[in-house]
Amino acid sequence: MKEIIVMGSGYGSNFQAIYEYFKDKPLTIKALISDNPRAYIIERARLLNVRSVVLDYKSMGKEKYNEELLKVLSSLEPFNLIVLAGYMRIIPEFIVKKYWKKIINIHPSLLPAFKGLRAIERAYNYGVKITGITIHWVNEFVDEGEIIEQVCIRIEENDNLETLESKIHELEHYYYPRIIERILFHPK
Ligand code: GAR
Repeated sequence: MKEIIVMGSGYGSNFQAIYEYFKDKPLTIKALISDNPRAYIIERARLLNVRSVVLDYKSMGKEKYNEELLKVLSSLEPFNLIVLAGYMRIIPEFIVKKYWKKIINIHPSLLPAFKGLRAIERAYNYGVKITGITIHWVNEFVDEGEIIEQVCIRIEENDNLETLESKIHELEHYYYPRIIERILFHPK
């Protein structure tokens, strides 16, 4: 049985997609970690019976939060992979080093374009004709690190921001679980 940790800050649709894809497969989500006590992803974890650990970044401050995060991750070992799914904080260097090539992230653009927040909206407003998703190893910088996979999509004339967002999320929900599976069960 493989075990993963998911980390997220928001709505949690990728977390849900990962959970559903692996429901009958030999992989379990050992825990969800969130930095945001108000995030819907925590409610999803409760409904799915996944253990959740909430560390309130805003009340702790960066240093204390990162120290606690390291403690929580250490206490959850062993696990095979840390999966960032809408996790909106930087993983500090000391955690990246400890878990080198054990943390992946998904981002809703073709990196290195449109790093950071509201990537879909910024790509749409820029007027690019092709955009997509990127899954990459995590380093200590925002939305950087060796690319594992990218999938592209054409922005059609009749797309608006809403249709584009839903197409991108559909791609994410399809590919993220399958890339996790490839990394853990069919490494090169
Ligand atoms: C996803 O689109 C993910 O790619 C993005 O946040 C969204 C989370 O949605 N991540 C980033 O922008 C990372 N820089 P979700 O909470 O419904 O999975």
